[in-house]
Amino acid sequence: MKILVTGGAGFIGSHMVRLLVNKYPNYTIFNLDKLTYAGNLANLTDIENKPNYKFVKGDIVDAAFINKLFSEEKFNAVIHLAAESHVDRSITNPLEFVYTNVIGTVNLLNAAKELFKADEKSFNRFYHVSTDEVYGSLGDTGMFTETTAYDPHSPYSASKASSDHFVRAYHDTYKMPCVISNCSNNYGPFHFPEKLIPLCINNIKNNKPLPIYGKGENVRDWLFVEDHARAIDVIFHSAATGSTYNIGGHNEWTNIDVIRLLCKIMDKKLNRADGTNEKLITFVTDRAGHDLRYAIDSTKLQNDLGWKPSLQFEEGLEKTVDWYLSNEDWLNNVTSGEYQKYYSGQYAR
Ligand code: NAD
Ligand code: DAU
Repeated sequence: MKILVTGGAGFIGSHMVRLLVNKYPNYTIFNLDKLTYAGNLANLTDIENKPNYKFVKGDIVDAAFINKLFSEEKFNAVIHLAAESHVDRSITNPLEFVYTNVIGTVNLLNAAKELFKADEKSFNRFYHVSTDEVYGSLGDTGMFTETTAYDPHSPYSASKASSDHFVRAYHDTYKMPCVISNCSNNYGPFHFPEKLIPLCINNIKNNKPLPIYGKGENVRDWLFVEDHARAIDVIFHSAATGSTYNIGGHNEWTNIDVIRLLCKIMDKKLNRADGTNEKLITFVTDRAGHDLRYAIDSTKLQNDLGWKPSLQFEEGLEKTVDWYLSNEDWLNNVTSGEYQKYYSGQYAR
């Protein structure tokens, strides 16, 4: 099996690449990544020299490059994670999200379609990694299931919803072997510190304000990133063509409660008196179009394929804090931008 993972130098992608490279020595894992501000090869130093791993620097928006890569390498499957992923950035620059998330996805589908047409047995999976944000916002009750109607509100979620529709259209029209999963908020090591949890870990460490949008009442359903990677592995290998799976932790928290818990954990870890870090909490102007509540019903995945989350949130958050505190170089390189010099160009096409 030659598997192309896109966005493998990002947060979730790097966990996915690591899992596949270590668990399946007989597969060759190609990691295609543009290395945007969110891509960092330092996320993969532990596996970069493994014989079944190859890095390719490239942009999924460049159709000619993508077509050439697919015709040369003749992948058997694609796991597509590359995306612009931050809601706040989508509010200031929506077009970048259209290019990468919509056009980039269609470029990959087109290139994969050629391989599928040439040999339907050989190209056997196009796995599109999506988000629960496509379902919109919940009130106080209810959960997103696989049949919840799409209702995206941010340019980010609109672009992901659009890409999901294209993937389904290629399955229905060209019978391509597509699968989609929609996951809730991930947290864990290698999370870029623009997102709520790693941003606040870094700010607590440096005694800086913790910016909470609005009143901090918005609810997210948090899942440890390695549990997401395990779910993708199970779905990739076992799901029926054309199916969709929701992935989530059944783990809903208001933002303010997440940050209070984080403050408590870090008071202990940093030997600060109880309550010290909470004083850093600062309520700031709310995000435009801020979705109130996400909650994923992952019953189908649990019943059909036997997956379940492995970690309680308190345990996962403590593990995450420990990782950030013992990987100061990673954090400092990322916050200074130094990490962008890391790529040597060795595998550049
Ligand atoms: P990330 O921003 O950390 O990583 C994205 C990666 O894609 C980076 O390595 C970046 O360099 C690469 N990339 C961006 N544009 C590219 C392009 N044009 N060509 C090639 N590579 C490009 O994102 P993440 O949080 O790891 O999310 C990965 C995927 O999972 C995304 O599709 C996202 O929508 C989805 N998702 C994320 C979450 C979450 O909580 N982070 C939850 C559910 C789904
Ligand atoms: O639900 C899955 C999605 O989760 C993924 O598809 C996205 O790629 C990922 O970025 C994430 O989106 P969110 O917008 O939920 O994540 P973020 O970490 O940006 O924000 C989490 C919550 O915290 C959200 O309600 C906004 C709030 N927030 C965020 C930041 C960055 C703050 O209150 N202050 C902040 O500084």
